[in-house]
Amino acid sequence: MSITQLSAQEIVQYCPELSALLIDAVEGGASVSFLAPLAREAADAYWHGVSADVARGTRMVFIARVDGQMAGCVHLAIATQPNANHRAEIQKLLVHSAYRRRGLATRLMAAAEEAAQKLGRSLVVLDTEQDSHAERLYERLGYQRVGVIPEFARSSTGALHGTVLFYKQLGMG
Ligand SMILES: CC(C)(COP(=O)(O)OP(=O)(O)OC[C@H]1O[C@@H](n2cnc3c(N)ncnc32)[C@H](O)[C@@H]1OP(=O)(O)O)[C@@H](O)C(=O)NCCC(=O)NCCS
Repeated sequence: MSITQLSAQEIVQYCPELSALLIDAVEGGASVSFLAPLAREAADAYWHGVSADVARGTRMVFIARVDGQMAGCVHLAIATQPNANHRAEIQKLLVHSAYRRRGLATRLMAAAEEAAQKLGRSLVVLDTEQDSHAERLYERLGYQRVGVIPEFARSSTGALHGTVLFYKQLGMG
């Protein structure tokens, strides 16, 4: 398994694989911004927007490959407000359903946190679906639970669910 950071150009190049990863998560019921069924064109358009963010320097994208196959990704969204230059947000942590429970998400999160530290971002925030596997994962990775907003978002099936807010302060030494 390898973890690599993608350039804006590589995101466009790998768009078919990245869209397949996103569609797999949405079809599996994950709450990751989209409703099912997610059309390939909509997924491609999303990744082109991500590529533009990476080109602007407001986002970093890391992927996991297993035997050469696209198996997972995570984004680090870098806050741009002058009063938030110590902060970053984890988004779109996705592991393909064929590669789960092998520690890929854990490795991807370590890569994103290391990148945040290198950028001098000492505070990482994220949110996730209440009672999801991801909620357990973040607790296990040392994220502090702030609270739950009831009925904040829809899962990909359309059902409203609570969203848990988390943060983690990274040691900068
Ligand atoms: C949540 C997700 C990213 C986890 O990826 P993963 O690579 O399987 O996670 P890991 O193997 O690193 O799991 C680490 C720990 O998280 C917890 N965990 C992860 N998946 C779990 C599951 N299905 N059931 C129970 N606990 C789980 C466990 O504590 C696990 O440790 P263990 O395997 O030693 O018990 C993956 O299930 C996924 O992509 N889901 C759909 C998309 C999604 O919801 N993303 C989160 C958006 S905020």
